[in-house]
Amino acid sequence: MIEAPHVSVLRDEVVAALAPGPGKLIVDGTFGAGGYSRAFLDAGAEVVAFDRDPSARRFAAPLEATGRFRLIEDRFSAMADHVEACDGVALDIGVSSMQIDEAERGFSFMRDGPLDMRMAADGVTAADLVNEAEQAELARIFWLYGEERESRRIASFIVRRRAEQPFTRTLDLAETVERALGGRRGAKVHPATRVFQALRIAVNEELSELDAGLDAAERILREGGRLAVVTFHSLEDRIVKAFFTERAGRTPAGSRHLPPQVHGPAPTFSLLFNGARAPDEREAAENPRARSAKLRAAVRTAAPAWERAP
Ligand SMILES: C[S@@+](CC[C@H](N)C(=O)[O-])C[C@H]1O[C@@H](n2cnc3c(N)ncnc32)[C@H](O)[C@@H]1O
Repeated sequence: MIEAPHVSVLRDEVVAALAPGPGKLIVDGTFGAGGYSRAFLDAGAEVVAFDRDPSARRFAAPLEATGRFRLIEDRFSAMADHVEACDGVALDIGVSSMQIDEAERGFSFMRDGPLDMRMAADGVTAADLVNEAEQAELARIFWLYGEERESRRIASFIVRRRAEQPFTRTLDLAETVERALGGRRGAKVHPATRVFQALRIAVNEELSELDAGLDAAERILREGGRLAVVTFHSLEDRIVKAFFTERAGRTPAGSRHLPPQVHGPAPTFSLLFNGARAPDEREAAENPRARSAKLRAAVRTAAPAWERAP
């Protein structure tokens, strides 16, 4: 097993945004290798961390030794089932370097492994989806979650191939996608990049998890508590931006997406800064994974949490 250390992205900025300290309880919704949790503990806070991946537990022992740390194996959308109130919530969305680098997890189109892609130990695998979903559903997944323009063509190729032999391995799928697109054609990124991203998001229901996680954070943050969210691609950032814009009462009147609100619910957050922060040049140069990262952060007001959308 390759044990590649996960280099935390935007860690100092997240710490500055959440202002952890003695007497404060911080929820780290995406524990990973524990880089954020360790920094919150170093600042004197108490930390409850979540990770749906059971293998994250191997990084917990040194943090538990502080007596101020607990790791819960669950989805962050369930944080309110475990924590009643807290002073900060951090979400560092997506997969860790360890998950990508371990071929056996099946996330990588560069290393051969079983076509799995589950962060948690249960649920539908990427192979289940690729071998069993209807052609139109596969095309929808590639289009929506991968923004893949050739989604239909790739789905049709996959469905024809699986009729002869089902997919079980990552490289087999990556090569089939490459063939569907007529080879590499000088592209800078591997032709299967978008399809793999899409399958990973679908298998782990990542976008609905993010939505539900933001709602849960709103419910458990005390007045003055802070929420910091780091995302890695536009699909995720769009969700976070829309949430913060809406909950900070900044949705423009007559928005396409919402009926005009004369007396809407009171804002539950005020933005800590406008827009999103990106890593500085040094971090982007040292950690290529950080290049697309964006941080948004806000402070909880005293207003009651909004009703959850049905
Ligand atoms: C980018 S890594 C976090 C890295 C961490 N901030 C650090 O400094 O080491 C994301 C982690 O969140 C976990 N994760 C992703 N979605 C999750 C969810 N919905 N619920 C719980 N954990 C999740 C993944 O299993 C992964 O370990």
